[in-house]
Amino acid sequence: MEITFRLNGEVVRVADQPPTRTLLDWLREVRGLTGTKEGCNEGDCGACTVMVTDGGGARTLNACILFLPQVDGCAVRTVEGIAGPDGSLHPVQQAMIDHHGSQCGFCTPGFVVSMACAHLNGETDHDDRLAGNLCRCTGYAPIVRAAEAAAAGPVPDWMRDAPVAAEDDAPAGGTGPDPVGAGVGADWGNRAPLAATGAGDAGGPGAGADGAWRPRDLDAFADWYAAHPDATLIAGATDVGLWVTKGLRDLGDVAFLNGIAALQGIEEREDGWRIGAGVTLSRLWPVMARQWPSFGEMIRRYGSVQVRNAATLGGNIANGSPIGDSPPPLIALGATLHLRRGAERREMPLEAFFLNYGKQDRRPGEFVEAVTVPKRPGIFRVYKLSKRFDQDISAVCGAVWMRLDGDRIAEARVAFGGMAGTPRRAAAVEAALTGAAWEQATVDRARAALAEDFTPLTDMRASAGYRLSAAGGMLQRFFDEKSGAPAGVLEVRP
Ligand SMILES: Cc1cc2nc3c(=O)[nH]c(=O)nc-3n(C[C@H](O)[C@H](O)[C@H](O)COP(=O)(O)OP(=O)(O)OC[C@H]3O[C@@H](n4cnc5c(N)ncnc54)[C@H](O)[C@@H]3O)c2cc1C
Ligand code: FES
Ligand code: FES
Repeated sequence: MEITFRLNGEVVRVADQPPTRTLLDWLREVRGLTGTKEGCNEGDCGACTVMVTDGGGARTLNACILFLPQVDGCAVRTVEGIAGPDGSLHPVQQAMIDHHGSQCGFCTPGFVVSMACAHLNGETDHDDRLAGNLCRCTGYAPIVRAAEAAAAGPVPDWMRDAPVAAEDDAPAGGTGPDPVGAGVGADWGNRAPLAATGAGDAGGPGAGADGAWRPRDLDAFADWYAAHPDATLIAGATDVGLWVTKGLRDLGDVAFLNGIAALQGIEEREDGWRIGAGVTLSRLWPVMARQWPSFGEMIRRYGSVQVRNAATLGGNIANGSPIGDSPPPLIALGATLHLRRGAERREMPLEAFFLNYGKQDRRPGEFVEAVTVPKRPGIFRVYKLSKRFDQDISAVCGAVWMRLDGDRIAEARVAFGGMAGTPRRAAAVEAALTGAAWEQATVDRARAALAEDFTPLTDMRASAGYRLSAAGGMLQRFFDEKSGAPAGVLEVRP
């Protein structure tokens, strides 16, 4: 299969790699660009951070869980491309030297790329921008000081990458890829959509073992997937990437979804939003935060910038994880899931999708097309509890929506993740709240009802007792916040 992208300013074509070759491996092993480091190889440490520019702008991604076809049509800048062509340092590099931001230096390339991308985009929320980069020796204060010092410096010209334009990629008789992301898609031009890996032949959809397709057209993809239900769908690859790097799995036929513009829309309506399955958590964040700040706060703590820039809403739902962070708030808000198989569409309340641990109501060849989220007037809070503030999977994620009528609770919807084999509504808690007075005694009854709803597991993240107690704490916190008592997790910060 052939892909084209700009690498540190130079257009490169790659035709001899399997579709699940990671960008990191290719950079290091084929191109000899070893500045990009491999630390965890699972998206956690940021040592492999690269900057990827597409039609939606520049963003950082973890190259270790990014497959080569995902950057087709994009511009990629590695740490080797952060200094100028004449060797002059980027302002963030000079600031890292001036502020002693590096000791052993292993993490430094990843930090520098994250800092340079934030510098380019004018982002100065350094704690958040750097939460996906781990440093084990320097300590973060000098690094954040360096980022602050560099912020006012001019953006060097060479940092303004353009995605690959059609004229840069004009294989004989073919149209070139367009930029990808943020509603713009790329496909294989006139190249056959499903080429057998390595052989590069034009077998067409369904031909050949281990084929790969990066469709642009949603209808064509839907028909193909209905006929090839065993294929693996790859959206952001923040889960699937680990199947390859850690599970060493052979994925067989794969379809990369990030070229399908129709899956990437966010459509605002009077009563809510329709959010395409391919929308990343980074793009979802401002939309949800505007309506429900606490939903935004939860997304801020979802993985890291690099993870949120890749991870999609559709992937977070389709993977069926009991500890996925988006289902609890979406269930509490009454979101509707839209599924599609071929031309056939159906919809269901999101909670109905999760049947059991590892089992979803999804038929062979069916995929997540979109989620609609109502603007449900009322009080809404989302609470994510994890061992670390940033970049950690939840032990418990709770979401509470309520509508008050005077001093009574007219309606309540409560959902939790991490409390059962699936994200679930808490029916007994909701019953204890609905119609009751807004007072501490009601909260006490709701907390007691949690044990009727859930028998949580004990695992490495939390014990069953801790989970029950923490979920009760979330209900209490909801009450305290609404009553004006200080209850935020950030109150301990200076
Ligand atoms: C370092 C790190 C931190 C993380 N932190 C968090 C966190 O804080 N909270 C959290 O909830 N998750 C977290 N995750 C998990 C992961 O980011 C999410 O589950 C993510 O949303 C998956 O989306 P994706 O687009 O990357 O999916 P992919 O990895 O591409 O796919 C995941 C699964 O969904 C399927 N799929 C994807 N799109 C569709 C579709 N449209 N229709 C049908 N099936 C589809 C794929 O075939 C696959 O089975 C983290 C992961 C990493 C690596
Ligand atoms: S090597 Fe750690 S995030 Fe990629
Ligand atoms: S400088 Fe050694 S890990 Fe950061």
